[in-house]
Amino acid sequence: MTNLQSTKISLPENVRRNMVELLNRHVVLLTDLAIQTKLAHWNVRGPHFIAYHELFDDLAGRLTELTDMVAERAATLGGTVGVPVQEVAKRTTLAVWPVEERRDAEVIRLLAERWAVVANSVREAIAATAETDPDTSDLFTEVSRQLDKDLWFLESHLS
Ligand SMILES: [Fe+2]
Repeated sequence: MTNLQSTKISLPENVRRNMVELLNRHVVLLTDLAIQTKLAHWNVRGPHFIAYHELFDDLAGRLTELTDMVAERAATLGGTVGVPVQEVAKRTTLAVWPVEERRDAEVIRLLAERWAVVANSVREAIAATAETDPDTSDLFTEVSRQLDKDLWFLESHLS
């Protein structure tokens, strides 16, 4: 259990602690997803290479921004933010990215699968925080909306 920094934000300490824990859990997921998306960006091959290559880079860029938003809410609430990459590996709930997989359709499918795990976890976080900290809930809503939209981008290649 990490120490919270003091703040004049009026939320009770136990609420801030819970928010920091939930936010950090999503920093881990978003970090893993961003790395997996970059692995896809570098390794994908196929007749539509450039479209996929560029899409994955756009997605990874947006994930970096979303991660920053989530992380800085944890800092705002006085938390210690993020963990070393070795700890990310232990805490993530995403499946390991198969780096040898290069076939574009399969890469898209695997990415959409992982994307859905993170997007749906963030959606649960909206409801879980709505009563106790509407600001954190609102932030999760913004993140959720973007993840859903990017999931649409991925899924549109599958149908
Ligand atoms: Fe690149």
